[in-house]
Amino acid sequence: MERTKIAEIFKSGEVGGRVNVLGWVRTRRDSKGGFSFIEINDGSCLSNLQIIADESLPNYKQEVLKLQTGCSVKVSGTLNVSPGKGQSVELNVDELEVLGWTDPSIYPLQKKRHSFEFLRTIAHLRPRTNTFAAVARVRNAMSFAIHSFFQERGFIYLHTPIITGSDCEGAGEMFKVTTLDLYDVPKKETGVDFSRDFFGSPANLTVSGQLEAEIYALALGDVYTFGPTFRAENSNTSRHLAEFWMVEPEMAFCNLEEDVDLAVDFLKYIFAYILENCGEDLAFFNRFIDSSAIESLERLISQGFELLSYTEAVTVLSKAKEVFEFPVEWGADLQSEHERYLCEKVFRKPVVLVDYPKEIKAFYMKLNEDGKTVRAMDVLVPKIGEIIGGSQREDDYDILFNRIKEMGLDPTDYWWYLDLRRFGSVPHSGFGLGFERLIQFVTGLANIRDVIPFPRTPGNVSF
Ligand code: 4AD
Ligand code: MG
Repeated sequence: MERTKIAEIFKSGEVGGRVNVLGWVRTRRDSKGGFSFIEINDGSCLSNLQIIADESLPNYKQEVLKLQTGCSVKVSGTLNVSPGKGQSVELNVDELEVLGWTDPSIYPLQKKRHSFEFLRTIAHLRPRTNTFAAVARVRNAMSFAIHSFFQERGFIYLHTPIITGSDCEGAGEMFKVTTLDLYDVPKKETGVDFSRDFFGSPANLTVSGQLEAEIYALALGDVYTFGPTFRAENSNTSRHLAEFWMVEPEMAFCNLEEDVDLAVDFLKYIFAYILENCGEDLAFFNRFIDSSAIESLERLISQGFELLSYTEAVTVLSKAKEVFEFPVEWGADLQSEHERYLCEKVFRKPVVLVDYPKEIKAFYMKLNEDGKTVRAMDVLVPKIGEIIGGSQREDDYDILFNRIKEMGLDPTDYWWYLDLRRFGSVPHSGFGLGFERLIQFVTGLANIRDVIPFPRTPGNVSF
């Protein structure tokens, strides 16, 4: 259908022209003067277009006066300078066609504010609210910025598999993929007979594209993946999803320091892009969700990130006056309360921690000379905690072989990964950015379930 998007109308600001606008009614207000003001939104931007429908329209009484929130309409008319406050242009319509009616007695979205908990139960309608439409547009812009950042630097975008036979993080938190009949599973002495399964061996949904990205980095130099990842961890927190999107660059001829530099540049690039291109939506989040949202982004771009080792961080934390729910001691994984304390109270900026104890990190991270820590790096930000996890990879065959065994994994499962260390091995590094956590940070939304269109969490796979 021929139409002009509302975003284009506001962008050009031109008046006098005839346009067709298609969208959904947000509100209707009738004036005693014999006309109605109707606010229409088409999702192209946050702002509604105000249209003025006069009683001279042939369907004014029968249709226009019955329009309710949620009805879909096609309107045609002329753009004029708006005398009213709050908008620059308005549309005087000479034709209004109702495309779809909405019964207000059962339509769940009303003009009032709804709680995010309630809106999660109507994920099929929540994108029609200001907040969720703004999240969708910001998510789109951030995806584009991610590709631009890497493409400008000559990285190759790589599609890694969703179904895999290996466990990248070695944590065993994977969803199984099978076509076996769960009511009649074929057995052999040692358990399930996977030779009868679709792939002839156990398969699962990937927890990370890293291992396959390493294969391509060791051929193409710089690559990145950007796709869905799955974790069957039973974490009911505001920053965990069972299905989330991860961005994973992997660079050959790159050490941990260069990896950290890239991660910092990457975050700053995205923040600058969003500030530049999503002004209206960010102003909305700043007003209704988190009044520090824009200021924190601006500050992050101009500021450095604090870099320190895990060991130094533990020293800082153990001297803290704060009472933590989880104790801090060298060797224990940091919790988000510790990560946030470092960013929000101690350094007041993002923090990059490096050189974690090997026991709490994955098998593939490069062992430091102390034999106790690995070349890991986590980027922590205020309000969220860990947003990026990465490392320099172990590139020595024997050390890697032993680490795999030490972690209770079977080296034969990783034969091809080990092969990369036998044939032209080079220092290489990479990281993974949790896309939804980044959107949480940018928008200020407290719950990760509200920054992905259809959240998957323990007990919830609706829509
Ligand atoms: O720290 P993680 O587990 O690192 C990896 O998967 C590496 N293979 C990445 C790499 O080096 N290529 O995960 C990376 C990031 C975390 O920092 C976090 O932001 C996000 O992914 N993340 C999650 N986001 C939402 N829900 C979950 N359950 C997440 N688990 C990790
Ligand atoms: Mg991590």
